Amino acid sequence: MSMRSLSLINYKNGISVINQRASSWWSHVAMGPPDAILGVTEAFKRDTNPKKINLGVGAYRDDNGKPYVLPSILKAEENLRARNLDKEYLPISGSADFCKLSIQLALGDDSEQVANGLNVTTQGISGTGSLRIGAAFLNAFFPGPKTVYLPTPSWGNHTPIFKHSGLDVKSYTFFDPKTCGFNFEGALSDINKIPERSIILLHACAHNPTGVDPNFEQWKELSQLIKKRNLFPFFDMAYQGFASGDISTDAQAVRYFVKEGHNIALAQSYAKNMGLYGERAGAFSIIAANKDEAAKVMSQIKILIRPMYSNPPLHGARIVSEVLGNKTIRAQWLTEVKGMADRIISVRTKLRENLTKEGSSLDWSHITDQIGMFCFTGMKPDQVERITKDFSVFLTKDGRISMAGVTSKNVEYLAHAMHQVTK
Ligand SMILES: Cc1ncc(COP(=O)(O)O)c(C=O)c1O
Repeated sequence: MSMRSLSLINYKNGISVINQRASSWWSHVAMGPPDAILGVTEAFKRDTNPKKINLGVGAYRDDNGKPYVLPSILKAEENLRARNLDKEYLPISGSADFCKLSIQLALGDDSEQVANGLNVTTQGISGTGSLRIGAAFLNAFFPGPKTVYLPTPSWGNHTPIFKHSGLDVKSYTFFDPKTCGFNFEGALSDINKIPERSIILLHACAHNPTGVDPNFEQWKELSQLIKKRNLFPFFDMAYQGFASGDISTDAQAVRYFVKEGHNIALAQSYAKNMGLYGERAGAFSIIAANKDEAAKVMSQIKILIRPMYSNPPLHGARIVSEVLGNKTIRAQWLTEVKGMADRIISVRTKLRENLTKEGSSLDWSHITDQIGMFCFTGMKPDQVERITKDFSVFLTKDGRISMAGVTSKNVEYLAHAMHQVTK
């Protein structure tokens, strides 16, 4: 206790009363850096330029730049309201219907693994929470080196999620800055050197942040090599349907790996493909070798979840189950996912066309070759700084733009700004 605190001790009825708050417990805590992506939005909000564009945020916007609540989601919510449901707790592993529908969405309705009860599926707190459950399970039970290999670059939260769970994080080559495409040879060569029985993280589709995916032939070779090296594939599928507009095409790598006999781990998110960002609906699955193993793995996952958050949120899971389980709403949702993907694909084309119109002689083919929400433009940090300072175009320092923030109204201005800072 400091001298100052001591001098403020009062005596009331012979009992000492300290009438000042205790001195600080937290004076040693240093200021942490702001989140790289949310910091961009903060800076965007402060800018007064009416032409400003926020391309940092990873959330879909319609062609008016507004958040989009899918009509299929509203319909599902209407149906739920009409049922007067209670708000009781879900089980630790979440809604059984939701889990079944989720793994079927990932592996397909005809999945042998699901039919044979080999999937261990738990509801997670969206994609992040599902990855976190997986990471906790791997840290507790993975039989090989507890090291996860991430593509370079990878989603910014992957490293903290795995490190927070106690795993070591290393990397393998993925993106080629020269072509702004996939460095297939580099990836094969690096994966070939990963110590056997390690964990490899793969983005199932719409790789974040680069928008670069292996083609199907490349996935086949990757599967073979990963099998040869005896690596454990952990798929992160945060964009199923959002990349190509088709849920089966976007799941082709995951389905192929499972068909080829890989017993994978899988994190799924409904943030992007159903626009359920804040509802935090997702799933974590492991494909077990047999039913007995599946039951044991499930029992341990529940033991890990219980002290973390006890059980997952109800509403988002109910919405997802209603969308996937109701034939009419499901069909409507599939059209709406395609609508979102198509809008993104069309603004990619428009951005490229406008860069040509501006007179840019640079090769911008990667804008249309890349897929999903993000485009890794290849803009260098000084160019990013200039486009923000001179044109109020906000993006992350790595040159990544969220195509979801590009609209038919701002695409010309964006192309002009990009040309000015890159010419
Ligand atoms: C690659 C990847 N994985 C996982 C997530 C998880 O997102 P959420 O926790 O919102 O579902 C994201 C979101 O941006 C992502 O891009």
